[in-house]
Amino acid sequence: MILLVCGGAGFIGSNFIRYKLKNDPDCTIVNFDKLTYAGNLDNLKDVENDPRYKFVQGDITDLEALNNVIKENNIDHVINFAAETHVDRSIHGGMKDFVLTNSLGVQMILDAVRANNIKKFVQVSTDEVFGALELDSNDKFTEQTPIMPNMPYAAAKAGGDLMCNAYFVTHKVPVVVSHCSNNYGPYQFPEKVIPSFIFRLSNKEKVPIYGDGKNVRDWIHVDDHASALSLLLKKGVPGEVYNIGSDNERNNLELTKMLLDHFNLGEDMIEYVEDRKGHDRRYAIDSSKIESLGWKPMYPREKFAEGLKQTIEWYLSNDEWVQKLRDRKAEWDEKALRKD
Ligand SMILES: NC(=O)c1ccc[n+]([C@@H]2O[C@H](COP(=O)([O-])OP(=O)(O)OC[C@H]3O[C@@H](n4cnc5c(N)ncnc54)[C@H](O)[C@@H]3O)[C@@H](O)[C@H]2O)c1
Repeated sequence: MILLVCGGAGFIGSNFIRYKLKNDPDCTIVNFDKLTYAGNLDNLKDVENDPRYKFVQGDITDLEALNNVIKENNIDHVINFAAETHVDRSIHGGMKDFVLTNSLGVQMILDAVRANNIKKFVQVSTDEVFGALELDSNDKFTEQTPIMPNMPYAAAKAGGDLMCNAYFVTHKVPVVVSHCSNNYGPYQFPEKVIPSFIFRLSNKEKVPIYGDGKNVRDWIHVDDHASALSLLLKKGVPGEVYNIGSDNERNNLELTKMLLDHFNLGEDMIEYVEDRKGHDRRYAIDSSKIESLGWKPMYPREKFAEGLKQTIEWYLSNDEWVQKLRDRKAEWDEKALRKD
């Protein structure tokens, strides 16, 4: 497999590349990433000299660049992680980059996949495209759940998903779409809740919780997401969608208390702040379809405490990685405030 990984310098993409190089000796990888504020080649320092890995800087909205990287490297498979991903930026900042990358960028990849006879393309999407579930229900998102996004970020992602379906039906492009729940693990950009809370609590700073803290997310370890996507590259059926989650629903308060416990801090470190606009109440994933292909998470619900502890320890012992991102904080904060 000669695999083009779009957006491989971010959180999940870099963990996926590391997973794939380790677990699939027959796979060669070209990482194609624009290096936005969220892209960070330090995430891949340990594999940058691997002869099976190469980095090319580029933008998925640039069709010519996509065609060139595919032709020059004889690419036969493509997976796309490239996206603008921060929900709060999509609410308070400009939306233009979200729509360009998350919708138009996916269409450009589909055109490149079609023009170059790629064997399979996996589009990495999110459960947020389904909208929200009721807090007091046992419902879960299945592959049949209609796409009904509530947030601007999710709407831009949904545009990409719908385009994948249309290109499969119209042009028989061999595309598989995955919908995964919230990821945790090493190398996540520090604007996201888990690394942000770890940094604050390690400095004895208070942590902000939106609304009543009862919003539920279904947390999955990033390595489990990587193993699921690796399976979809091999066994995912073109034209199909697959949900990925590890049956690990936690509300924000419960997650925060687990983090507080680790630092021996009390609930007085929580600061309740005004709720996020359009805040989806609950997400939960039914992953029975991908499980029927043979996938199982290494960190199911009962191992969440262990996965979270390893994650906290990773951030606390990777000072240099953390410090470099903190030094760039002015740059990424300023970008969040742009209004296109
Ligand atoms: N983080 C989660 O919990 C989660 C859950 C489900 C799905 N997803 C999806 O997984 C994917 C990866 O998420 P993440 O958390 O790793 O994101 P991230 O923000 O950490 O990384 C995104 C990467 O995409 C690159 N990028 C952005 N625009 C680009 C463009 N136009 N061309 C090329 N590269 C570009 C960035 O430089 C960065 O390296 C996204 O598509 C996201 O929607 C994320």
